[in-house]
Amino acid sequence: MHSFKSVKIIDNGKSIVLQRTDGSTLRYHSTWLRDNALDPKTRDIKNGQRLITLSDIPIDTCVKSATLDSKGENISLTFSPESKKVSFSTSWLETYAYDVEFFFLKGWISSDLKIWKSDMSKNIPNIDYKTAKSDNTLLLKWMQSLHKYGFAKITGGKKESGAITQIANLIGYIRETNYGKFFEVRSEINAVNLAYTNLGLQAHTDNPYRDPAPTIQILYCIENSASGGDSKVVDGFKAAILLKEENPEYFDLLTKYCARFEYNEDGKTHLQSRRPMIELSPDGEIIAIRFNNRSAAPITDVPYNDMENYYKAYRKFSEIINNPSIAINFKLKPGEGFAVDNTRVLHSRTAYSGSGNRWLQGCYVDKDGLLSKIFTLSKKL
Ligand code: FE2
Repeated sequence: MHSFKSVKIIDNGKSIVLQRTDGSTLRYHSTWLRDNALDPKTRDIKNGQRLITLSDIPIDTCVKSATLDSKGENISLTFSPESKKVSFSTSWLETYAYDVEFFFLKGWISSDLKIWKSDMSKNIPNIDYKTAKSDNTLLLKWMQSLHKYGFAKITGGKKESGAITQIANLIGYIRETNYGKFFEVRSEINAVNLAYTNLGLQAHTDNPYRDPAPTIQILYCIENSASGGDSKVVDGFKAAILLKEENPEYFDLLTKYCARFEYNEDGKTHLQSRRPMIELSPDGEIIAIRFNNRSAAPITDVPYNDMENYYKAYRKFSEIINNPSIAINFKLKPGEGFAVDNTRVLHSRTAYSGSGNRWLQGCYVDKDGLLSKIFTLSKKL
């Protein structure tokens, strides 16, 4: 935090400018200031929620007077035509400053996240289930890693059906779907989903045909004595960056056109979505990957003249995802599981066979609950 030496009204009261002692400045618009007023008539004292709508603020609201206290810690403002007095601390204003240079390249990644490739194998975030239950500090560290890398393992759980829900409850709230609160991932006769066979699966994000897609996925092992059936995870954000570096035009094609995804279970469930394989925010941040060959529907949102190159881009992205240099491979033992950020990290398994069994269970948890738990637990600790 800096110290401040003056506040001035500019643009006939449409804005103010705060000057720091080092000479640098921050500007704020009168409408922004009035909308964000922290007084009890604008914000509820208990829950902090806003009590007014924008139409309660006069369209010609402007700052009539502005003063900074002698310590440079608080400013007092009077708004006209309301004659409303409001004060702000300069530290609050600095925290929420928006008069800063924005320069975002298309395809940027939030600074909270760290992208990785196969070298992360030596450093996989892991926690023992009993530790996660008893030590909030280590649980917090593990959840922070899950957010940062989009992938983390858990070991030492119970080797029984349903144990996965206890892990899910540690980090948030289960998202129930047509597959239930949790689902079986093992060979079935006449399987309704290829996941429930012994076939190998290409790295994918789960359920891109949902809108919204599940955000955190947990896969948990109860039995794994079959030969094969190894798990693999790939950082989809890393794959997107590699695609962009190798061919920016391909990256553009997969971000600007929607793919389509579909899952139809014999008339019981019919899910469809229309989203890009690499989703960007309006200012170019990579916010989600959807990639799943099994549930890709015919693509019809790419114009004829771009379709050939779109397929080349799709093929190249697929090659990058399949490249072993960016994957982490491991075999889950009974009582072990892993969680992925399903909006970012892809998972897969190799085919399995033999006399043994492979029995996994999976479930989905909402990422907002994870982030909320990280935020509240870090404050508490
Ligand atoms: Fe899956």
